[in-house]
Amino acid sequence: LQAAALAEIETVGDRSSLDAFKVKYLGKQGEITKLSEGMRHVAKEDRPRFGKALNELRQSVTSRVEEREQSLASQADAEVLSRVDISLPGIPAEQGALHPLTHLLDRAVRIFRRLGFAVAEGPDIEDEWHCFDALNTPQDHPARNEQDTFYLPDGRLLRTHTSTVQIRVMENQAPPVRIIAPGAAYRRDEVDATHLAQFTQMEGLYVDRDVSVADLKGTTEYFFRQLFGSETEVRFRPHFFPFTEPSYEIDIRAKSLGGKWMELAGCGMVDPAVFEAICQKRGDRAFDPDVVSGFAFGFGLDRLAMNLAQVPDIRMLVENDLRFLKQFSAL
Ligand code: PHE
Repeated sequence: LQAAALAEIETVGDRSSLDAFKVKYLGKQGEITKLSEGMRHVAKEDRPRFGKALNELRQSVTSRVEEREQSLASQADAEVLSRVDISLPGIPAEQGALHPLTHLLDRAVRIFRRLGFAVAEGPDIEDEWHCFDALNTPQDHPARNEQDTFYLPDGRLLRTHTSTVQIRVMENQAPPVRIIAPGAAYRRDEVDATHLAQFTQMEGLYVDRDVSVADLKGTTEYFFRQLFGSETEVRFRPHFFPFTEPSYEIDIRAKSLGGKWMELAGCGMVDPAVFEAICQKRGDRAFDPDVVSGFAFGFGLDRLAMNLAQVPDIRMLVENDLRFLKQFSAL
């Protein structure tokens, strides 16, 4: 049987006939398996010898099958290789890069996380209540104008600032509240090198007992110095927003931003009227303005990213031109 099996295997020329060979000899019903079952009929004293011979047989056939398997496999490889020109250059894998806005956003979020701020989100499509009414913005305020705001046919709108997220967070959480909310905002601006109809803002809100203007200044100054270097100068100018009182605009001057004063952010102490609107909506006094106070800020990220990455035209940030995007792999 051994001789027959070993002779037969030499005639095996491909995988499927090798598989057939394995079934015929080594399978459950195979010749060699059948022989082992015959062991029962062998006289007791002959069994060790018979068993040994059987083992040798199985081993020699098995190892020959393995050899055959390997040589068939390398034959197949050689055949494929003969059809492929392995001297052709390969196709290099493309390496992705972070968009300058994403990069800036990641850094900003990391700094605020260290200060205990959590990231909050809200929808881009909003209602007038979250975008204006709850933020103490009167019916006749110019921001509500159709010239400034994108309204949808059903009366909803594209949020004109991320301050909507302040409202959504306070509706659903109790103080202390410490959040930042990066996201898109939309205004009907004429599109040019410095304006898009969609831009990126980052909102911040801190509400607790005894939050003061000093906390607002300390937090925002710390943030801008972390982001743009410890030499960064920060300046607060009195301003007006319906939803904060007092309100300020923040300018900064930093070497990494070209050494010129840049108007960067709006901020202020949350107006008691906003807390009242929240209390009414919630039906409780969790944000009672006689008990809690807070500050809020919002700043645009696009111009900052442009400045940091020296991008001359804001439209480049959204055109997704690979020639533009590829330049930032080193950031
Ligand atoms: N929402 C204001 C804007 O878009 C910025 C702001 C946010 C001002 C929070 C004060 C407090 O200009």
